Amino acid sequence: MGKKKELDAVIADVQYRTKCQYAINTIELKLQMIQEELSEEYGREIVSQICSRIKSADSIRKKLTRKKLPVSYETAQEKLNDMIGVRATCFFEDDIYEIVKRISAHKDVTVIKEKDYIKKPKSNGYHSFHLIVEVPVYSEEGCEQKKVELQFRTVAMDFWAKLDYQLCYKREISGTQGEDIQKELRHYAEIIAKMDKNMMRIRKEIETM
Ligand code: GTP
Ligand code: MG
Repeated sequence: MGKKKELDAVIADVQYRTKCQYAINTIELKLQMIQEELSEEYGREIVSQICSRIKSADSIRKKLTRKKLPVSYETAQEKLNDMIGVRATCFFEDDIYEIVKRISAHKDVTVIKEKDYIKKPKSNGYHSFHLIVEVPVYSEEGCEQKKVELQFRTVAMDFWAKLDYQLCYKREISGTQGEDIQKELRHYAEIIAKMDKNMMRIRKEIETM
């Protein structure tokens, strides 16, 4: 079987997808548990939305090619952290850090990497907290650790990231006009970050009233 077919076949395989879904369900269940704990403690809503996806064969192929890596399932499994992705969109920035703390403390969750693009945004203005974790997936074959990329954002950061994704992500926006656009997008990301901070301050003010 050619490499292209091989990758397509593995990604389409029911067993592969079932295991990925198992990892997604594990993480989503934990997020729901934490959300309920916090919601009860704080007396307000914490998470606006949770979504997930299994990376498509096409997207894997593109990413491996971009990274100048051989296109195979094995390489993808080894080198790509986002074969499985879960995103939690939260209302407030401080809740993100509390959820990260709590999910990282779960005994069956192994944190591989943390990328805090909230404290250290990307140069284009992208804000999010990324957590790469491993969770165990059990089957008749035994136990297998599956990597999951967890993204945490506020609703406002999500708005920016979704538009940025449509407009610019993985696209070369160059020239003087391109630079102006980049600058403007970064400016809006900063406005959003300021708004998030102010909304948090307002919430805290109301809490002490
Ligand atoms: P990729 O960006 O996926 O190639 O992986 P990476 O290893 O560089 O990891 P990183 O944590 O930077 O990005 C992982 C994921 O975060 C991406 O697949 C996107 O979903 C999201 N992301 C990262 N940077 C941006 C960005 O500038 N804009 C948008 N909209 N999303 C981004
Ligand atoms: Mg990705």
